Amino acid sequence: MVVIRGATTIARDEADEIRGAVKELLEQIVQKNGLNREEVVSIVFSSTSDIHSYYPAKAAREAGFESSSLFSAQEPEIEGGLKLCIRTMLFVEKNLTPKHVYLRGAKVLRKDIAEKINVAIDGPAGSGKSTIARLLARDYKILYLDTGAMYRACAYKILKDGLHPEIEAEAEKSLENLDLDVVYEDDVQKTLLGGTDVSAFIRTPEISMAASAVSRYPFVRLRMVEKQREIASRQSCVLDGRDIGTFVLPNADFKFFLTANADIRVQRRAKEMEERGEKVDYEALKQDILRRDEQDSSRAMAPLKQADDSILVDTSFLSVEEVLQTIKRRMQEKI
Ligand code: DC
Repeated sequence: MVVIRGATTIARDEADEIRGAVKELLEQIVQKNGLNREEVVSIVFSSTSDIHSYYPAKAAREAGFESSSLFSAQEPEIEGGLKLCIRTMLFVEKNLTPKHVYLRGAKVLRKDIAEKINVAIDGPAGSGKSTIARLLARDYKILYLDTGAMYRACAYKILKDGLHPEIEAEAEKSLENLDLDVVYEDDVQKTLLGGTDVSAFIRTPEISMAASAVSRYPFVRLRMVEKQREIASRQSCVLDGRDIGTFVLPNADFKFFLTANADIRVQRRAKEMEERGEKVDYEALKQDILRRDEQDSSRAMAPLKQADDSILVDTSFLSVEEVLQTIKRRMQEKI
């Protein structure tokens, strides 16, 4: 007897959702393990306590598991646990090495056996991308890659060399032998230039504008994107930026595009700066952000743009927690 495990999530507590998700999960388990339905002796389901509309066992019967004995149970409500999640165990009369199957939002449950997941979060400055990406990565215990920091580090290097980021030839000269690396210490990203951590120096308004300027050069983008793809290919991660869903990872498992109205974005940036003890010129900051949006959206290569298959979340009037919950809920839907 062999036990095969699996899990999936649903978008809403509705009978059709449950039927569809159970059918998809069982079909994939059967297919990935090369089973006949008759070889499945018994199937046990458990669902989270927010699921009331249908018995997964009944859905399994309807999906063609005529001869298996079926059972559904409800799990206790655990704080921080996945919502709207159905788990299963199939007892199979066959000698095989089980291939467990984790689908939809449940992929995050078993990162060791599920395929790797990549979450793309794009949007303009101040839309809340980095806050959300960081929290999402923390909750799902996966890596957060702040791609903006890489463009910022390039800008920092050019300015430090006394050159002009807006002049392509000067940027090229400064970045000729660029030694840029991204490492993690206690899950915190450190951006290294020539082995030195520059993370603390790349958050100034001057660097923001310069980063936007250098990010339009194809020679810069291609190098950054290559590194980003390489990091994302090795592990599950959340990446935030401008072109993740459109260019860096067009096949990302989950894609979100965050927006917020300009005044709110300016307020958020101002608050961040004030928290760091910096003095804020509100009008100048607003002009900077608008100019940066314009520059990032109008460049020829991989501009700031919503991917057609991404989910738009307007964060203007949502709290951080509300945005996080919205995104997690959408990840539990089939997209
Ligand atoms: O997200 P951020 O503010 O740290 O990004 C700084 C600049 O870097 C941004 O104005 C445009 C550029 N950038 C980019 O072109 N593509 C990305 N994926 C991330 C940032």
